Amino acid sequence: MLVLGIESTAHTLGIGIVNGEGQILTETRAVYTPSEGGIHPREAAEHHQKHALAVLQRALEEAQVPLDKIKGIAFSQGPGLPPALRIGAVIARSLAGALKIPLLGVNHCVAHIEQARYFCQAKNPLVAYLSGGNTQITTLETGRYRIFGETLDIALGNMLDMFAREAGLHHPGGPKIEKLAQQSTGDYQELPYTVKGMDLAFSGLLTAAKRLLSKGTRLETVCYSLQETAFAMVAEVVERALAHTRREEVIATGGVAANARLGEMLQIVASEHSASFDSVPLQYAGDNGAMIAYNGLLLLKARKSIPLSESTILPKWRLDQVDIPWEV
Ligand code: ATP
Ligand code: FE2
Repeated sequence: MLVLGIESTAHTLGIGIVNGEGQILTETRAVYTPSEGGIHPREAAEHHQKHALAVLQRALEEAQVPLDKIKGIAFSQGPGLPPALRIGAVIARSLAGALKIPLLGVNHCVAHIEQARYFCQAKNPLVAYLSGGNTQITTLETGRYRIFGETLDIALGNMLDMFAREAGLHHPGGPKIEKLAQQSTGDYQELPYTVKGMDLAFSGLLTAAKRLLSKGTRLETVCYSLQETAFAMVAEVVERALAHTRREEVIATGGVAANARLGEMLQIVASEHSASFDSVPLQYAGDNGAMIAYNGLLLLKARKSIPLSESTILPKWRLDQVDIPWEV
């Protein structure tokens, strides 16, 4: 049972194919990088449209499967940037229609989490989903993901990207900040630490970090202090959610999960609660088509394909609004 998945919520046009066991036969992508500033939604959409055919052809070649062997077409239905989402939806509808096979509408956040759960071989973990657009601490409970804590303003990855831009670093900023932080001498400068109940806020931290930089503090020092503060905030919420849920596994996913220092902190928190910790493999921390294909497979097995009339994009589709029909 082969399923093809299309990812197009933001910067990445990704196509993946998985087999009936969830194994990835191919994962190909074209990534839009803005020439300056943040992602421009229309430019991202134009990029995806331009590269769609080439990425699809490459995926089919790499997987060495003809299109007519595919049994389901999955796409990121939301959340995401509307113009970019529309491209993926159009490709998916066209393929499913032409091949007369089921169309599967996937929630991008659930896809990140389920792919991480698959790779980490976690049964029912506490999940830290930390990306460019999302910062959520969540677990699956009776048919829905329940969010224990999330950002009240901007996402962790977005905050890192905005700081990086201010510092003259190119998008995406997270990896560059990580490198610079590693080069610092460990001279921590105090920055605002904002945890409200179980939720987080990063905009005060961003403003203060920019101010520190403008006062002439070394960029390496600011990057280090920014990471230490932001990741400690996340670790605190993870710790409290872990104490409350008593889950035995913690996993991290989303682009920021690629950060080694973050992983180190979450590892400490998990082991203090006798829980295991694992992150999604680096290659799959960011957006990719294989996670959409895998989530599509889960939906196909649960007989949850959608008719064309229900395939409109859902730019604000929240993680905790998604019915999860599969067992853990
Ligand atoms: P979402 O999943 O919420 O739609 P997205 O698709 O933009 O968001 P991802 O592709 O999962 O997010 O992640 C991109 C983010 O991850 C960017 O903000 C980027 O700076 C950040 N990131 C990537 N690598 C690292 C790293 N090594 N350290 C910190 N942040 C990183
Ligand atoms: Fe993502």
